Amino acid sequence: MPKVITTRKEINFSLNDLPAMPLPTQVLMVRPNHFSVDYVINPHMEGNIGKVDKAKAMQQWDAVKDAFASTGLRVHTIDDQPGMPDMVFCANQSLPYKNPHGDREVVMSIMHSEHRKPEVPYIEQWYLSQGYTVHHPGYKVIRDFEGMGDAIWHPGRLLLWGGYGFRSSIEAYEFVSAKFGVPIIVLKLVSDSFYHLDTCFCMLNENSVLIYPDAFSKKSLEMIRQLIPNVLEADAEEAEKLFACNATCPDGKHVLIQKGCVKTSQMLRDQGFTIVELETEEFLKSGGSVFCMKMLTW
Ligand code: ARG
Repeated sequence: MPKVITTRKEINFSLNDLPAMPLPTQVLMVRPNHFSVDYVINPHMEGNIGKVDKAKAMQQWDAVKDAFASTGLRVHTIDDQPGMPDMVFCANQSLPYKNPHGDREVVMSIMHSEHRKPEVPYIEQWYLSQGYTVHHPGYKVIRDFEGMGDAIWHPGRLLLWGGYGFRSSIEAYEFVSAKFGVPIIVLKLVSDSFYHLDTCFCMLNENSVLIYPDAFSKKSLEMIRQLIPNVLEADAEEAEKLFACNATCPDGKHVLIQKGCVKTSQMLRDQGFTIVELETEEFLKSGGSVFCMKMLTW
């Protein structure tokens, strides 16, 4: 039965008991014509106002786009908007879903920061153009919800992992669980450098996840370890400075990750993954890397 799971005791099932779900086949990216660091809404942005090299950012974004195409995903792009310097981080404004009947639905976000609220209608327009059914959580009950920044699908299974504590409120998961009819295991984030779940939790394939353990409460770590057989831990410095856990593994084989995560990448190679190194330094100045620069869709 779909529900919001908050304790280890409630995980009385294994991954095999959950219905199968297809992997996403498409990806949306937002071209960063107006990307910059203009304000500080996470610790990584501090000291970086006005420091983005825009030409370099565009080159890095293009390379990330090509890397997604090379893994076989169909890439869609839209342009960002003037005055919306964070719109490029399109993991955040929505959470899409393809239900068992094959219908595509999306829950739109309620951005935590006033700076980012105007981005949402532009992303919604794209979903409408693709024929998605769009849902909006009630802002009177739910303070905030930042889409796939905090709500991450378990690859191949009908299950969501939902982070809360900084950008999304726990109440959002009641709404998403009821709307989509899926169980959600909620994880408490405790360190402000790891303000989104996608900064410390990277699903690799059905049985493997890469995490930064210190970003989670003790109970949340227990839930991860209870359900996922292969929990890999990223090196602390690489997780904090190079966003090692903000990698993405769209096909269960290729891990697209910031260049220079030497220890983490070696560990992943030893596990049989193919590492695709990407340069996202300009985006790291804003507190984001590969995972947040796209939205995986169906
Ligand atoms: N500057 C952006 C913000 O703080 C970065 C978002 C990164 N996105 C992510 N999913 N971690 O909102």
